[in-house]
Amino acid sequence: MDRRMFLATGGWSMAASLLPAGAHAAAATPAGSPSRIDFVSDGLGLEPREYAAQLQEAAAMVAADNYSRGGIIERLERDFARRLGKPAAMFVPTGTLANHLAVRRLAGDDRRVLVQAESHLYNDSGDGAQALSGLNLVPLAAGQTTPGLDEVQAWVERSGRGRVRNDVGVISIESPVRRRDHAMVDFARLEALSRYAREHGIRLHLDGARLFTLPFHSGRPLVEWTGLFDTVYVSLWKHFNGACGAILAGSEAFVDGLYHERRMFGGALPAAWPQVALVERYAGRFEQDYAAAWRVADALLGQLDASGLYRARRLPDGTSRCFLSVRDNDPVRVAQRLRAHDVVLPSPHPDSGEFALQVNPTLLRADPAALARSFVAAARA
Ligand SMILES: Cc1ncc(COP(=O)(O)O)c(C=O)c1O
Repeated sequence: MDRRMFLATGGWSMAASLLPAGAHAAAATPAGSPSRIDFVSDGLGLEPREYAAQLQEAAAMVAADNYSRGGIIERLERDFARRLGKPAAMFVPTGTLANHLAVRRLAGDDRRVLVQAESHLYNDSGDGAQALSGLNLVPLAAGQTTPGLDEVQAWVERSGRGRVRNDVGVISIESPVRRRDHAMVDFARLEALSRYAREHGIRLHLDGARLFTLPFHSGRPLVEWTGLFDTVYVSLWKHFNGACGAILAGSEAFVDGLYHERRMFGGALPAAWPQVALVERYAGRFEQDYAAAWRVADALLGQLDASGLYRARRLPDGTSRCFLSVRDNDPVRVAQRLRAHDVVLPSPHPDSGEFALQVNPTLLRADPAALARSFVAAARA
């Protein structure tokens, strides 16, 4: 379903905070801190005035960039290269362009690119890599999260046997996979795929827009994931509350001169600093805040299940998404009542009535017991 269909509408109320005094301070950021618990966003879902207030504070520490080079951008590039375990990185204004630049440069003359059928690159980029860079994207594993090695092998062999030789140059993998409710790719199968690709000289790109949730769910540090790939993209706005932006990391040779291609595609923002000035504030603590947010979510879901008024559901390979349905009540009404308590839910699924909830650090503003009481009251009314 279109992500926008899940977005709840309307403003947020300044209703009584669910935050017990002094508790759960991690995500309660300085200026304009609301009490809103947001089950829709990947991050804090900052409203314009909240963003502006935090930008005002952060601005004192920001060195401006010039056409997306230097200043805070260069610092972020260095910082993220280190976090992702790569020698170099470049800021890109969107993840859409980051994926495109990555597969374009990695492919070179080997213009066949294997992708997941359910990936953003295949579905949500307007076939930009095909139209603008002459790449041939081959979709694998329709309806699934992890492509199998046998399917990859079959395409690599077929590509080498055509009348006109047209080798597979790149395999691009997204994990977590947004269209699979943020399920993560199976690590062991990914290792096998990476090993095979390297043996055959095929380059590997990771769309890790929401990569920073993986360590918590997989028990593996970021660099174990990124080490399987030549290049990796991570979003700056999904988890780290930038206004937009992405980091594309790889080897020195990969990043060298890449800013010319960024500019060619119209991606050199004359002043990128206002978009990313808050990122440093959140990136360093995301993994810790996210783990704490899941502790709140676990407690909440446990209490709601036990109440008999709700049913919670998780995916076995899930990351930031869980599901909640209301027993014997209208989910739209329940969401409206919760809204009055500053709890924002997505629209329920039109057929099942189930809510697809995003777990994010806004949950750190909540006391799980008080939050559960709000849910229970909303379902009883
Ligand atoms: C998995 C994934 N990759 C890439 C993108 C593109 O990011 P952007 O919106 O910054 O272009 C998105 C955005 O929703 C995404 O979910």
